[in-house]
Amino acid sequence: MNDVTAIGVLTSGGDAPGMNAAVRAVVRTAVSMGIKCFGIRRGYNGLIEGDIFQMNVRDVNDIIHRGGTVLYTARSPFFKTEEGMNAAIKNCKKYGINGIVVIGGDGSFRGARDLSEHGIPCVGIPGTIDNDIASTDYTIGFDTAMNTAMEMVDKLRDTAQSHERCSVVEVMGRHAGWLALETGIAVGAAAILVPEVHFDVDRDIVNKIVLTHQSGKKHFIVVVAEGVGNVQSLAEKIEERTGIETRATVLGHVQRGGCPTVRDREMASCMGSYAVNLLSKGIGNRVVGYRDGKLVDYDIFEALNMTKNFNLEKYYMANVISI
Ligand code: ADP
Ligand code: F6P
Repeated sequence: MNDVTAIGVLTSGGDAPGMNAAVRAVVRTAVSMGIKCFGIRRGYNGLIEGDIFQMNVRDVNDIIHRGGTVLYTARSPFFKTEEGMNAAIKNCKKYGINGIVVIGGDGSFRGARDLSEHGIPCVGIPGTIDNDIASTDYTIGFDTAMNTAMEMVDKLRDTAQSHERCSVVEVMGRHAGWLALETGIAVGAAAILVPEVHFDVDRDIVNKIVLTHQSGKKHFIVVVAEGVGNVQSLAEKIEERTGIETRATVLGHVQRGGCPTVRDREMASCMGSYAVNLLSKGIGNRVVGYRDGKLVDYDIFEALNMTKNFNLEKYYMANVISI
């Protein structure tokens, strides 16, 4: 592999708080090594359309604390086509980009794998509020999203308590229950529903609410991961079968915004720097991860073939302490 002289950085897929801190670290690490750095706007779309601009250390001032991504983000179906890939490669050549840091989820990593296969070494950084990437214990944005969800559910609890109601809350997580699990534990949910674990409405929710109601509990929080299904119809079932007034709330995109927490800023900064260090040594086709308390990197193919086992032990523990 040739020496890396210019790297690009892009954010792709759903945004996540902390992405800006990662961009900042990438730019500053690269420039401090004498490597040119280019920002690529709107994920792979910017690579295809040539929406690319040079970034210097002062261009990333004042972004470490900001949610969202200053580079914008997008989903780019066209990038998956041969035509899209060719346009992306052409622009890499035009700008002399010979390494790219891709900040996003596993879809974005698939794009990074394809680019690497086409001769542009890429390093992926996990950025998604879902924490659903198998090659890492932690993804940038997860901590901020958990804290936002917890804060929102605390507010719902106030009104559920006043009205002696049950509040059914949907949190994000396309196919994953990590956000629901951690938030559910933090808010003391009576039940947590995730796509990874089969549940029965009567056995796991209705009976539990009835029993705890009999023992003196007056209001209830049920946290449901987005991937589980419709919270409105679940709320109706709960109300009908328990006789307790029930309301459904979908937290939605509020969970993707806001100032990143310490953990997200710190993790993003370290991962950004780590990614550039790999590229600077001529190492591409890797993803950065956080495993057993330290930063690691894996081959992208290997990373994409890993599976992430849901933390059942924690899930069942949450069930025990919610009586
Ligand atoms: P995330 O990165 O958050 O998982 P997506 O799954 O939407 O988000 O993927 C983001 C972008 O990555 C897609 O719009 C597409 O450009 C690219 N991408 C996703 N899947 C693939 C794939 N199988 N092959 C190549 N590129 C992909
Ligand atoms: O992957 C992150 C995520 O926020 C998921 O939790 C959610 O299902 C999805 O993105 C929503 O995507 P969009 O921004 O396209 O509505």
